[in-house]
Amino acid sequence: MAFQLDKIVRQHLKDLKPYSSARDEYTGKEGIFLDANENPYGTPGIVRQDIAFHRYPDPHQLRLKKRIGEIKEIPPDYIFLGNGSDEAIDLLIRAFCNPVTDNIVINAPTYGMYQVAAAINEVTVKEAVLTPDFQLDRQHIAAAIDDNTKILFFCSPNNPTGNLMSTKDIVQWAKKFEGLVVVDEAYIDFTDTPSLIEALPDLPNLVVLQTLSKAWGMASLRLGMAFASPEIISWLNKIKPPYNVNGLTQQKALEVLENPNQKEKLVSQIISQREKLSLALQQHPLVEHVYPSDANFLLVRVQEAKSVFDYLIMEKIIVRDRSNVLYCEGCFRITVGTEEENQLLLKKMAHYYENMRKS
Ligand SMILES: Cc1ncc(COP(=O)(O)O)c(C=O)c1O
Repeated sequence: MAFQLDKIVRQHLKDLKPYSSARDEYTGKEGIFLDANENPYGTPGIVRQDIAFHRYPDPHQLRLKKRIGEIKEIPPDYIFLGNGSDEAIDLLIRAFCNPVTDNIVINAPTYGMYQVAAAINEVTVKEAVLTPDFQLDRQHIAAAIDDNTKILFFCSPNNPTGNLMSTKDIVQWAKKFEGLVVVDEAYIDFTDTPSLIEALPDLPNLVVLQTLSKAWGMASLRLGMAFASPEIISWLNKIKPPYNVNGLTQQKALEVLENPNQKEKLVSQIISQREKLSLALQQHPLVEHVYPSDANFLLVRVQEAKSVFDYLIMEKIIVRDRSNVLYCEGCFRITVGTEEENQLLLKKMAHYYENMRKS
């Protein structure tokens, strides 16, 4: 049966009257603004007034959506912007999954926020375990889906495994599944594989998530993107907090997005460092395996993981211990740093190997 959005939107939202903010009623830039109970004089300690910190920001982020639309070659009404893509994950679950009765399916091991956002919303998570080489397992996915499954989450390239999932498989699921298919492409800039954004015209149930936190180097400012049909996007807009993307983020993102060439250069630098680090780690006596990566991190299996981790922390080198994650026993997820940072990591690991393990 064909996908029907109306069938999966939570019933009570259909009657929801969203909050109408002061800035919804008048969208002009010039005027005497006495509508939003702001401080008319400015912001203490802020001399520069080019970012009007004392004014509420554009709730619809129109300029930013226009610019992102140009870059991604998609109309602005296909774009939702959130306080990180984590916000989009939460809103998708809130808009389409009824607490207690509904569930989402994730492909484990994967990014932890799908589970957390579902748990906060009292939505069950069903895990379809990946194959041991971290690919999608058709049978596991089919077994996990039931009548109450509203969202299928795919993460490609996947966190923490670093690999791309088969685009063909994801598209097949999107064609077959009657709920939403969400593809999290937080790390897509680190691969040559095209984004699934280009499949949106053919797949009305597809949502693609991306973020400015990784390749674009804007993690602190928090800007996540969801791309989907205008109908799906309008539900997210209906339930989002009115000013979910703050003014500083909107302004800075516009500046950052004027520099796609520089972003490409940084991505190339990160990829070249990733390859260097991967080679060096493969030759390291403490390392059992370095998984191939399409992202800006490496999943690395090391001997004596717990004590290596503690030693690195003591040396103020912080990696992510993924030992407790399925298939990742003894593994660290190591973000690719600068050349100097990577060298220091290797040096400290060598130091641990030579000295610490003896004591
Ligand atoms: C797969 C994946 N999706 C989403 C996010 C969150 O991105 P944002 O910073 O946009 O909330 C992360 C962050 O690590 C991630 O690994």
